[in-house]
Amino acid sequence: MKKKTIITYGTFDMFHIGHLRLLQRLSKLGDELIVAVSTDEFNKQKNKTVLIPFEQRAEIVANIKGVDKVIPEYCWEQKIDDIKKYEVDIFAIGKDWEGKFDFLKPYCEVLYLERTKEISTTQLKKSLTRFLSIPKEDILNAFKVIEALKKDFE
Ligand code: CTP
Repeated sequence: MKKKTIITYGTFDMFHIGHLRLLQRLSKLGDELIVAVSTDEFNKQKNKTVLIPFEQRAEIVANIKGVDKVIPEYCWEQKIDDIKKYEVDIFAIGKDWEGKFDFLKPYCEVLYLERTKEISTTQLKKSLTRFLSIPKEDILNAFKVIEALKKDFE
């Protein structure tokens, strides 16, 4: 019997629990999971600023259990060619893209999966910005307080 191949696309910047859970669910849908990771150049086209370079994002995703292959995503138009080339059975992506890839339905099954609640790269970037806006002295003082508290517990 032919193996069942799944493909997904994404940036996977600042790899987080939402990414992990999505990939875990995808890998259970079939036998082979291909992840197309957006290149830095493609992210620029999408007006997305990434913190982690493509090579590192691709290496992290490639080492997640259940991921069989990572390919670069360098443009919007490559999907049909990828589906044909890798004989893909299922194209799946998070629900934030619901309906956007229905044009792939003549080529394979198209699924939109529930996102993990309350986490996204955008959210992490906002938290980082807030953290960096805290004055350095306040952060150092907070660490001193933590150290003092730790001593109390020793
Ligand atoms: N995803 C998910 N649950 C989350 C965040 C992302 O299931 N909480 C899924 C997306 O739906 C997508 C894949 O992970 O299919 C890659 O998403 P990506 O855009 O790289 O991650 P986001 O955290 O959504 O990034 P951003 O906030 O920059 O859009």
